[in-house]
Amino acid sequence: MLRSSLLYLSERENLKRLLTKSSMGRRMAARFIAGENLEDAVRAVRQLNSEGFEVTLDFLGESVHAAAEAENACRVYLGILDRQETEGLRSHISIKPTQLGLALDEALAGRLLGTLAGRAALHHNFVRMDMEGSAHVEGTLRVFHQLNAPRDSLGVVIQSYLYRSEKDVEDLVKGGARVRLVKGAYQEPPDIAFPRKADVDANFVKLMEKLLASGGYHAIATHDPRMIAATQNFARARGLKADQFEFQMLYGIRRQLQRDLLRQGYRVRVYVPYGKEWYAYFMRRLAERPANLFFLIRNFVRR
Ligand code: FDA
Repeated sequence: MLRSSLLYLSERENLKRLLTKSSMGRRMAARFIAGENLEDAVRAVRQLNSEGFEVTLDFLGESVHAAAEAENACRVYLGILDRQETEGLRSHISIKPTQLGLALDEALAGRLLGTLAGRAALHHNFVRMDMEGSAHVEGTLRVFHQLNAPRDSLGVVIQSYLYRSEKDVEDLVKGGARVRLVKGAYQEPPDIAFPRKADVDANFVKLMEKLLASGGYHAIATHDPRMIAATQNFARARGLKADQFEFQMLYGIRRQLQRDLLRQGYRVRVYVPYGKEWYAYFMRRLAERPANLFFLIRNFVRR
């Protein structure tokens, strides 16, 4: 109930304006966001790299309303790729297809993604297309397949809460795609997504096994110790080495678990978001764990 309310609020412009303009809002978001500008993000990447983590950077933003905004987001991402190259940062980029105009004009989003994948390939880097709400899944996968970019420069995300994901995983691994597996962060109806968490988790394990058995390089993105243990057990049983897949987690979440995995010799990539458009991202993090809301409010009231 609280999860749905928070996800509903994540799309409300009036609360967004209120929260993003207030210093309280910014302080609350700081737990999950590296900062509002690129310098903040670069500082976070350097720190994480020095601790042994890989990174993927997200310049926050989604659902642009005009082609010019999509072009601008693409320019920012090109700048990030160049900056990462000159500074020798170990960091990929993650991008929401609607930030590149997917909902406005699929051809535009495809062209901009192609530009980004091309620049990433030049720098031996990698672009991950994040997966958004179900209205964009078909379009995202279509753009990915049509681009047919080199597999080591462009990859996608699959959400285990969707019924369709098993078939999508099968198609993707046949084509050698690199997949990030997540549970899914949006509000979806029961006719397209498992309503029960136990089923989302069971499907996560099933898809993780399909991915790791495929021989490709995939990312298992979760903070759930049971999903992580299932992945470790499956990888061990299959004789996979720790560098044949990676774990991914979000900036500011389960930091000790991130360090523990690194210490055990696993590759861990931290998803680092930055930028002024943090509202929707922040609300999804609250929705994943509503206890965060009470924690943040309590800390704020105590100040
Ligand atoms: P689960 O929700 O069961 O949480 C397991 C445990 O992790 C919790 O008990 C808690 O301890 C901790 N935890 C999880 N979320 C937390 C939070 N917000 N705050 C504090 N603790 C928390 N989704 C999507 O739809 N499209 C995408 O492209 C991506 N991309 C992505 C990248 C990466 C690197 C990660 C880790 C996640 C995503 N997600 C995503 C989000 C994903 O779908 C999912 O909503 C979250 O990862 C939470 O699910 P868990 O697998 O962590 O399990």
